[in-house]
Amino acid sequence: MNPVENTLPESPLHGIQDTLLDKHGVRLSIKRDDLLHPIIHGNKWRKLKYNLIAFRRSGKSELLTFGGAFSNHLYASAAAGKIFRIPTRAIVRGPQLDSQNPTLRFAKACGMQLHPVTRSEYRQRDCTEYLEQLKQRFTKAFILPEGGTNAAALKGVAELANSLPQHQFLVCATGSGGTLAGLLSGHTQTQVLGIAVLKNAEYLQQQISELQPSPNCAWRLLCEHHDGGYGRFSPELWQFCQWFEYTHKVPLEPIYSGKMMYALWQLIEQGYFPSGSHIIAIHTGGLQGKDGLRYRGLIGAD
Ligand SMILES: Cc1ncc(COP(=O)(O)O)c(C=O)c1O
Repeated sequence: MNPVENTLPESPLHGIQDTLLDKHGVRLSIKRDDLLHPIIHGNKWRKLKYNLIAFRRSGKSELLTFGGAFSNHLYASAAAGKIFRIPTRAIVRGPQLDSQNPTLRFAKACGMQLHPVTRSEYRQRDCTEYLEQLKQRFTKAFILPEGGTNAAALKGVAELANSLPQHQFLVCATGSGGTLAGLLSGHTQTQVLGIAVLKNAEYLQQQISELQPSPNCAWRLLCEHHDGGYGRFSPELWQFCQWFEYTHKVPLEPIYSGKMMYALWQLIEQGYFPSGSHIIAIHTGGLQGKDGLRYRGLIGAD
């Protein structure tokens, strides 16, 4: 069995050349965490690594987590279970399981046991009482929150921040805020910008401050780039993802990485970044999500 502690080689930093960048005098690099691992990539590996180490030390014998039917976190947790030989379970936002859903099919094929629950039960996933009930029901389970966001996850993301060369701006997609909070352990001269992928995300500011009470870096959460809300995107955003992939050879999906890059491109166009800035955008992976979008007919074949 591969020990979890084995570090993966660092992902490459990919420089982008574009006339837009020249016009505004900024440098853009993409931290290709989507290339970290063929399956458990992006922020998923960063967030799982120290959780898997904590699991090993916990004396528990299975991992239980939570996710929606198309969740990147479920996909990665199921894969980690298979690779590291850890039995896994997931409480899945239901009420029913669609046996053809590509994410759930993959999770099941990895051996993950899926427990569909109603949407109202799923909403209790962070409530102490509900978690107590789960602990009593699954006595051997190490419980990992939805999206894997907790203190151990931040430690893994901090490794990413500290692997980067000096830069002025670090940009990432923000869902729960765990990735942004972890990046705040990086260089003190850096400003971290989170692009919220969901609507009305202002509440995340408080959550991020609680997750990371003593940040090294200044940060901002930009809440105007959700493009309709979580899981939604305009035809323009998807066209941008396709253009970007064709032109710059970096694959994007429209829920996280593409939404972040589309927002970043608009910010550069608007002159948000002072001339001379070096911006690093984090590619947080999530490319499996395209299979789910294709399955639902929301995007066409590649
Ligand atoms: C591919 C991808 N990128 C970014 C994020 C956002 O990360 P966070 O929830 O830590 O803000 C997620 C969600 O977990 C994700 O799946």
